[in-house]
Amino acid sequence: MNHAEIAGTGSYVPQKIMTNEDLERIVDTSDEWILSRTGIRQRRISEGENTSSLAAKAAIKALEDAKMDADDLDLIIVATVTQDTFTPSVSCLVQVEIGAKNASCFDITAGCSGFIYGINIGTQFINSGQYKNILVIGAEVLSKVTNWEDRNTCVLFGDGAGAVVLKASDNKGIISVYMGASGDENRYLEIPGIEVNNPFSPEVISKPSYIKMNGLEIFKFATKIIRKSFKNVLQNTDYSLDDIKYIIPHQANYRIINHVAQKAKIDINKFYLNLEKYGNTSSASIGIALDEMNKKGLLSKDDKIIMVGFGGGLTWGAILLKWNK
Ligand code: COA
Repeated sequence: MNHAEIAGTGSYVPQKIMTNEDLERIVDTSDEWILSRTGIRQRRISEGENTSSLAAKAAIKALEDAKMDADDLDLIIVATVTQDTFTPSVSCLVQVEIGAKNASCFDITAGCSGFIYGINIGTQFINSGQYKNILVIGAEVLSKVTNWEDRNTCVLFGDGAGAVVLKASDNKGIISVYMGASGDENRYLEIPGIEVNNPFSPEVISKPSYIKMNGLEIFKFATKIIRKSFKNVLQNTDYSLDDIKYIIPHQANYRIINHVAQKAKIDINKFYLNLEKYGNTSSASIGIALDEMNKKGLLSKDDKIIMVGFGGGLTWGAILLKWNK
């Protein structure tokens, strides 16, 4: 009974669609440049909703899909790099919004790998027997930390939330988990926070909290680490890449995925991609993609799926799962 499986999925994106043509009116860019470099055509942008609001809406849909009440939840984990506030956590705000009064709540920050880290943590709580029903959400309003004057980054990101309900089961749904980090490469992808500024600090020049990225280094890191993640998550299991029906990567960039597919000799059609509609939604992207596949009826019982994330920290991770629904 101490195995974890996915009982339900949900997602939510803001209504406002921002196309590449809309971006042409803001910065010196073009639809052709963005599409050819990234595969992104449009993204969703919050018109005022904060991260907890997106997260709660995705959570309600995941609970419906799991046929579970909010009262049944033992734990809510929110993965995000764009919290509403330092405190309370987004997960505490979600708890109030959905009425999950029996749940413990905390947030985690693991860049764009946050959803993978969150599922891994949730799985450990179920495996240990401490909790039975866990909500894991990846939610971001990246538009609030986007520098809308920086064409190198503002074309890449979008807002959204994806969620899963994990539940204890006799049937092993989460087969294998893997994660890693290399903090010494942190400078390649940053969102600066608040400087230490108190009566004892030297003069502080505060910097705005905008996304800063070295695109080339992140590209090199991602293409290397995705393949390493496949190897590690399959290690010590009965499965190889040939057994995998779908790979759901963090939806950062089509060229990254295409490069990986070619290097690892994997049919590109095995990768589920929806980044052309949503851009890079960081912690939210894998959950949004999984929910979209579930709702489209693409997933059949016993399908083996790998979800793989990579991003700021730098962090990475993968989950090998069997679809039990
Ligand atoms: N529109 C038009 N031109 C742009 C542009 C934009 N939005 N952004 C950058 N450029 C320009 C650059 O200024 C540069 O011009 P220059 O040569 O005159 O200096 C030129 O395009 C080439 O830039 P370059 O960085 O070499 O492009 P690239 O082919 O490497 O693509 C990325 C840039 C960001 C798309 C690519 O590096 C990438 O995908 N990196 C990974 C990013 C990512 O996925 N991050 C999130 C991971 S979680």
